[in-house]
Amino acid sequence: KSEITIGLLGLGVVGGGVATILHEHQDDLNHKLGVPVKIKKVLVKDATKKRDTYLAQEMFTTDLDELIEDPSIDLIVEVIGGATEAKQAIERALRAGKGVVTANKDVMAESGLELLKLADENKCDLFYEASVGGGIPLIRTLEDGLASDRITALTGIVNGTTNFILTKMKLEKKSYEEALAEATELGFAEADPSADVDGIDAARKMAILASLAFSTDVHLDNVFVRGMDVIQEGDLELAEQFGYTVKMAGSAKKDEDGIEISVEPVFIRNAHPLASVNNEFNAVYVYGDAVGETMFYGPGAGSLPTATSVTGDIIAACRNLLLGVNGRRVHAPQHSCKAKSDDQ
Ligand code: NDP
Ligand code: HSE
Repeated sequence: KSEITIGLLGLGVVGGGVATILHEHQDDLNHKLGVPVKIKKVLVKDATKKRDTYLAQEMFTTDLDELIEDPSIDLIVEVIGGATEAKQAIERALRAGKGVVTANKDVMAESGLELLKLADENKCDLFYEASVGGGIPLIRTLEDGLASDRITALTGIVNGTTNFILTKMKLEKKSYEEALAEATELGFAEADPSADVDGIDAARKMAILASLAFSTDVHLDNVFVRGMDVIQEGDLELAEQFGYTVKMAGSAKKDEDGIEISVEPVFIRNAHPLASVNNEFNAVYVYGDAVGETMFYGPGAGSLPTATSVTGDIIAACRNLLLGVNGRRVHAPQHSCKAKSDDQ
């Protein structure tokens, strides 16, 4: 292959970041892969919209067929978001023999295993690093770095928007509405921000992480979720008086009785490192039998950090394409997900 060609689905916050990194880091990517990586076509909702981009206007389309049916497109990068259309696009790409990179936690939490199997059947890659933790390489860490260990628990902050809101409310005394508007303006919030503030986005991410960590298939129903609405007026000040900080935290634990996963606002002692994870930053502790305690920290949302994870996946997929392999084997879940809440 003399070049790798990408069909990009979406040129919003994340897609725009991907286009920027592929352009601005093209010499480094070329050096690492030995061939250039180029975007050929871009699927958007409105192909006539004026955009601040180096990509030519004629590359934009609203017709997915133009990308799927183009034999010169090697890889589809899905960053349109949402559940239904994104899932259909991923399925179509895989059935057409094209590898897929996605940042979509809605789809991966709901149908990850099914899509990974489809990728495997079609001998294609399906990578989804950006679906959890923005720029923090968490998926690869669980799949590769900590693969030999028995993970017993994961805890941390996995939603940038709610952490940004709580930080602004605590440190700058902003109102909830002001802070949410700012998070939306900065591109951290989901298209429907209720997914963030109701804890659903974090629940999806915990389901993805727990499925990998515990080699099982966690469904959203298995996650106990309480949103930011349970935080009452005065809670943040009360926490401060007693040396605590309110955070939206995710937790997943596995023992002989099953798996327990939750997302909810909690009081965290100020001396604990999670209390000083601020703004859109995320942090996740992973506990393993052999490794002990590890902590992963970084920007959990935003254009370039998230696009870094997406382009990392693009590089991995390109390497496989150049080697003529699809790298990541799908392992059937080792355990069924026996959620403790099932028995309660
Ligand atoms: P945006 O809303 O900023 O961008 C979405 C893009 O997709 C736009 O270019 C839009 O077109 C296009 N689009 C949306 N729906 C369709 C459709 N049905 N058909 C064709 N094109 C469509 O979203 P983000 O970039 O913020 O998010 C993308 C994905 O990345 C989501 O899954 C999100 O959860 C995930 N993600 C986002 C992060 C972030 O910090 N924002 C971090 C980690 C993951 P048009 O430009 O014409 O409107
Ligand atoms: N809305 C998400 C968040 C984007 O705020 O964490 C990153 O997944």
